[in-house]
Amino acid sequence: MSEADIDLRADPVFRADVLEGLRGPRRAIPARWLYDERGSELFDEITRLPEYYPTRTETKLLERCLTDVARYVGPGAAVIEFGAGSATKTPLLLQAIKPSAYVPVDISGDYLRASADLVQAKFPDVNVVPIEADFTQAMTLPDDVDGTQRLGFFPGSTIGNFVPRSSVNLLRHMRETLNEGAKLLIGFDRVKPTSVLIPAYNDAAGVTAAFNLNLLHRINRELGGDIPVDAFVHEVLWNDMQSRIEMHLRCTRAVRFSVAGEVFAMREGEGIHTENSHKYDLRGLRLLLRAGCWTPLADWSADNDWFTLVLAEAAPIYSAP
Ligand code: AVJ
Repeated sequence: MSEADIDLRADPVFRADVLEGLRGPRRAIPARWLYDERGSELFDEITRLPEYYPTRTETKLLERCLTDVARYVGPGAAVIEFGAGSATKTPLLLQAIKPSAYVPVDISGDYLRASADLVQAKFPDVNVVPIEADFTQAMTLPDDVDGTQRLGFFPGSTIGNFVPRSSVNLLRHMRETLNEGAKLLIGFDRVKPTSVLIPAYNDAAGVTAAFNLNLLHRINRELGGDIPVDAFVHEVLWNDMQSRIEMHLRCTRAVRFSVAGEVFAMREGEGIHTENSHKYDLRGLRLLLRAGCWTPLADWSADNDWFTLVLAEAAPIYSAP
């Protein structure tokens, strides 16, 4: 393997995260790297699997609660979506809220522009202003939305990908971006029996396995790796102490491989931790929001309490009492 095999367009942050993540002692790679083009396609396929309940449940829930949300928010608001919009959920929201502006924020420019164009075509009267940025950080909103009531939108239980301390940072950054008087509509996946949770992340058709293993293909392709992908299997477990589903890539035999010129060895049974999906109960998710400077105003849960949407309000900056 020579330096010449390394894709020069590879993201240096990806490279650094992977090398550091593979060195151990507990091997782990940040979940955001699962979502390259192929990974995003596979995730899209996941959302349509019979075992994967979150997307379906949240969409039904949105249909039920949006008249209420519209009453809290009022027409003419600016909707700031954290992540490029989904083709089904975003139109539902915009239809109900009747905003003056829609600001999707995503790190992946191509994907962002494509989905912003779709929204603009569907809602010609809405001012669509995409921002290419990392939504885990605070940012300055375009002047267009100055003085407009703001509604943050963070669906999909994406918050579940973050460990609690990062979730709190993320929520505080959203509070900083959206500012005084803003509201936030956010989706949380709920704790439920493992007989439902595990299959949702380990489907019979093997799509989630392909999604997880795609990370190794991506590393080989973009970072000049020679990881023997066939030595790894997709593993899903419920970590009860931390209230989360974990995805790992488990080694079925001892392997040696190199990535970006660095050599790694793994023993049989060793794993690489690739994603967390935290599940919340009602009191826990409300407390998380408050820790992140958002005061819950109302929440809506699916009939079986499998998923919850919360409308929260930016907390004033003072400690009371
Ligand atoms: C995109 C973070 C909401 O945790 O349910 C689905 C990601 N990973 N199947 C989730 C995911 C495997 C998903 N989120």
